[in-house]
Amino acid sequence: MSYNTLIFTIDGPAATLSFNRPEKLNAVSPEMLTEFSQALDEVRGNKAIRVLLLTGQGRAFIAGADIKHFLDLDPLSARQLAVQGQDLFSKLEGLPIPVIACVHGFALGGGLEVALACDFIYAAEKAKFGAPEINLGFNPCWGGPQRLARLAGKSLAKELCLTGRFFDAEEAKALGLVARVFPEDTFLEECRNAARDLAAKGRLAMESVKRVIDWGADVDLKTGCALEAETFALCFTSPDVKEGVTAFLEKRKPRFQP
Ligand code: COA
Repeated sequence: MSYNTLIFTIDGPAATLSFNRPEKLNAVSPEMLTEFSQALDEVRGNKAIRVLLLTGQGRAFIAGADIKHFLDLDPLSARQLAVQGQDLFSKLEGLPIPVIACVHGFALGGGLEVALACDFIYAAEKAKFGAPEINLGFNPCWGGPQRLARLAGKSLAKELCLTGRFFDAEEAKALGLVARVFPEDTFLEECRNAARDLAAKGRLAMESVKRVIDWGADVDLKTGCALEAETFALCFTSPDVKEGVTAFLEKRKPRFQP
């Protein structure tokens, strides 16, 4: 399927969704919201895809929701927009495969929220993050404050959302929002290498890791540990366990199920 606001490419087991409104710093328009959702359905439906990268064309990852459209909103349509984005990001988070946000340039507002809904964020050295919605007169509403508070703590989430200040990749890493920072010139290559390495791992084991961490974060320790035992048991329904263990004993790389 082709899209107006996204570039969707598949390279072996790795798919890349690139936000494509570079002249507007990839600001999220209503059309982009719809197409993003359709593209996620396409990813979920293609069993050959084992890892997804999100990137942006031009000099931004995403500079936020398209501000132009806020003038047309009334309270009801504002709530609808909030819920539409939240549902979309839950769909993103719920994919069974790893999703890496590859952030170069600006990840602001909704762009930060997209990145936070991915499994982890890799950032280029000059990436700039921020939740500047406060300067427009409203709060971030696509799950950003919730995910920020869970990742960096309530106090920092409030400081970032109340001031709306921009922060760089190193600070984002220090706050625990970004997993790794790479130099600008090797950034995409590093992201693709990581995708290739992830794609070689077992599908069920990767999904299990995602589930125990995402679901476990919302429950008490005992329930989370019980969940780990169940997903661990589930892994033994796949031939991948025998292959992984045998490969280790035979001192070779495992060849997990396609
Ligand atoms: N919505 C709509 N358009 C946006 C946008 C957004 N969130 N962010 C950038 N753009 C547009 C600009 O209006 C401009 O369009 P134009 O050339 O037709 O005027 C184009 O993208 C380039 O942006 P510009 O502001 O000229 O680039 P800059 O390098 O001077 O500044 C930013 C970059 C990111 C600091 C600035 O664009 C900005 O503050 N954007 C809004 C960030 C924001 O508040 N996001 C939260 C939205 S809820």
